[in-house]
Amino acid sequence: AAACIALREVICHFFRHQGREMAWRETTDPYRIFVSEVMLQQTQVERVKSKYPGFISRFPDFASLAAAETADILDEWQGLGYNRRALALRGAAQEVMERFSGQLPGEVRDLESLPGIGHATASSIAAFAFNRPTVFIETNIRRVFIHFFFRDEDGISDAEILPLVEMTVDRKHPREFYWGIMDYGTMLKKRYPNPNRRSASYSRQSRFEGSDRQVRGRILRI
Ligand code: ADE
Repeated sequence: AAACIALREVICHFFRHQGREMAWRETTDPYRIFVSEVMLQQTQVERVKSKYPGFISRFPDFASLAAAETADILDEWQGLGYNRRALALRGAAQEVMERFSGQLPGEVRDLESLPGIGHATASSIAAFAFNRPTVFIETNIRRVFIHFFFRDEDGISDAEILPLVEMTVDRKHPREFYWGIMDYGTMLKKRYPNPNRRSASYSRQSRFEGSDRQVRGRILRI
């Protein structure tokens, strides 16, 4: 538990100093967050960044997305891949209009009942749109916990990681906590992408490597 508290502090500090900016982090509009989380399910952040503004301006709310023609949705979705996700997104918008009077619900259980929204996406929407301290795992979160707590072990299951997430999540600032842990996981993935190429991102990365080594050593000693 003490190690989880230390990790929480590391993540919050990291987010304050090195958190990334993304258009969907500048809003609390549940619709915009819902669209971004579905886009981010299987698509890289950089690609989503390039497609998101066009999609939002063409379909600015649940009503316009619910009423959209398939061809128009797929036109805006081009480049994001997995077209079925785009159609499920419209299906979800239609259910929000019909079952929830146009208001996205804040409960994970309600969000999960929408097409194309699994447990992780429902939980991330509840955290980012409604600042709920939900407990969930996705690729980057999983990478951070394995890095700090299961470094030399194989075949770690999410069932082993979830209780640690529950102890680590910052209940007062779930939004910033989850943004930070996703960013930290992305930095871990990028570890020395190309050591021969010295660039601004290289020096940022090597500063990250140094502080990560220190922090990990400190957490392992708890
Ligand atoms: N910021 C908000 N949601 C995110 C996500 N799913 N992946 C990465 N960064 C995010």
